Amino acid sequence: MEVIILRDANEIGAIGADAIAALLARKPEAVLGLATGSSPLAIYDDLNRRYETGLISFGQARGFTLDEYVGLPADHPQRYRNVIDEVFVSKVDFAAGAVQGPDGLAADIPAACIEYEAAIDNAGGIDLQILGIGTDGHLAFNEPGSSLGSRTRIKTLTRQTRSDNARFFGGDIAAVPTHCLTQGLATIMGARHLILVATGRGKAEAVHQLVEGPISALWPATILQLHPHVTVLLDEAAARRLQRVDYYRETYCSKPEWQGI
Ligand code: GLP
Repeated sequence: MEVIILRDANEIGAIGADAIAALLARKPEAVLGLATGSSPLAIYDDLNRRYETGLISFGQARGFTLDEYVGLPADHPQRYRNVIDEVFVSKVDFAAGAVQGPDGLAADIPAACIEYEAAIDNAGGIDLQILGIGTDGHLAFNEPGSSLGSRTRIKTLTRQTRSDNARFFGGDIAAVPTHCLTQGLATIMGARHLILVATGRGKAEAVHQLVEGPISALWPATILQLHPHVTVLLDEAAARRLQRVDYYRETYCSKPEWQGI
């Protein structure tokens, strides 16, 4: 796991976007894993700018989102499918239908989850997955206690997550759905490269557990310690609880140029 501590969201956005640009340069038909939430926005903003200036194309790429609320109407602005369209997908040149998400309105939810896993497999798996992290260490919507071997399924959101996300629903926790569909932790672990972004002091404890804590379902993101290629992009505030912070800084400063992230 590589931990990179950066000055601000702009630097985080540039490094994340560089990794996606490098991937698309060597594999234009790459499969991207797209996360919602505020953390990845700097990466999407940077990619949108690169697209506008003709530096990058997503014309052959495909995408899969991580998770979705159950039951939000198709036109609800907080439906993750609509959120990712608004902040990224509609601003670049993905082909129609190239980005899919779990169907939170499916009549048969277990079948929809199996189909989603199959769609990811049929696309050849995810090359690069962008991730945020919840204040309680959740990944996608894999709340504490999630099976470390889980696959796409329905989950009940914790009160903490509903309260964290109430800001997107006019501050009203009652308006936040109680259930979601989410890629499982094993689904996420199947991606070939994971880039996790965390900013702000509210994420500091979750980041400490993710990088330095014991692997435990209590902090679901700790499963990433078992993945061979994880990059964690942090600002100073999110890094403030890390015990080995000097080593992470030294490692990044002395990194060979050819290595990339
Ligand atoms: C939600 C999403 C997660 C995201 C988390 C943190 O719960 N399902 O994918 O990582 O929020 O969001 P933010 O980046 O806005 O802090």
